[in-house]
Amino acid sequence: MNQLGVGIAITGSGSATPAVVLDNHQLSQMVETSDEWITTRTGIQQRHLADSQGSVTALAVEASVGAIAMAGITPKDLDLIILATSTPDDLFGTATQIQALLGASRAVAFDMTAACSGFVFGLVTAAQFIRTGAYKTVLLIGADILSRWVDWSDRGTCILFGDGAGAVVMQASESDRLLGFELRSDGTQSKCLQLPYKAQNKEIVNGISTAQGTYHPITMNGKEVYKFAVQKVPEVIEKALFQANITAEQVDWLLLHQANQRILDAVAERLTIPKHKVLSNLARHGNTSAASIPLVLDEGVRLGKIQPGDVIAASGFGAGLTWGAAIFQWGM
Ligand code: UT7
Repeated sequence: MNQLGVGIAITGSGSATPAVVLDNHQLSQMVETSDEWITTRTGIQQRHLADSQGSVTALAVEASVGAIAMAGITPKDLDLIILATSTPDDLFGTATQIQALLGASRAVAFDMTAACSGFVFGLVTAAQFIRTGAYKTVLLIGADILSRWVDWSDRGTCILFGDGAGAVVMQASESDRLLGFELRSDGTQSKCLQLPYKAQNKEIVNGISTAQGTYHPITMNGKEVYKFAVQKVPEVIEKALFQANITAEQVDWLLLHQANQRILDAVAERLTIPKHKVLSNLARHGNTSAASIPLVLDEGVRLGKIQPGDVIAASGFGAGLTWGAAIFQWGM
């Protein structure tokens, strides 16, 4: 609880994935890989992919409708909508399209980008608006269609990613359920994982050129990102736990960005959090970037695993490089 007496509660969740599924056997017809290699090295067995009819907007709206219903509010109650995404349908912003489709006419809406850390960064951003008393009810969405930007001939990356969306409703509350957080960035390592804009000079008038190009497919130094994740994620969770004044033993659920089962296992081991407290949907969804944490959260809630009051340690990490952790209790 802050000096203004405003706490934060996360009161609803929702998620959505495209209907089309690509499994490891199908991938092994596209690149030199095997179901055995992908399963043992990553834990991924299949991923959902959006086709040209699909959109970040549509996935986000479906996830949001679920979150709004669970929270027992209406779209008109929303003051703010934050869409965490690296793959917007429109570079000018996609959140406003979601606002329009939901009919959330009172809400201000904007996109933010922090790659696979987007949901945790968005959670903390949304919390600031609530804590200051500026807004009472916020819809936070993590949604990505990375399949648009994957090099489908690169076996080092194309096996990893899937598409999806997850959303939560955050509300001002008398009891504060956001217990602690820690966010980090290190741009010196940005080349480890990129989806860069590349351009060529195009002369538009004598002596004046503009940079015309497009974004190029994802490139990743998998080994470096792996090392970064297993070292930095436990550290940032420990810092967030310290802020929250709770111990790792008091954590009911560890919700990590779903990047690789080996990363999930290594982080849990470092924190001495037992495996049964680590939620994973990697086998079914792969790495869905900003969507992965709210997706796994929503599945845990709807399966009745995550109960009101349960303590959740969530951590996102990825391109930027960015990483962060938030400790919160589920529900009012
Ligand atoms: O959301 C952003 C965060 N991203 C991540 O967290 C990704 C982190 N990194 C990883 O998850 C892992 O590094 C990968 C799954 C990407 C790769 O696993 P790895 O155990 O680090 O494999 P590696 O890159 O060390 O490659 C080992 C071998 C290589 O062959 P040689 O050089 O030993 O002959 C690769 O060429 O495996 C080969 N390889 C593959 N073989 C079959 C790489 N990708 C594949 C593949 N199928 N898909």
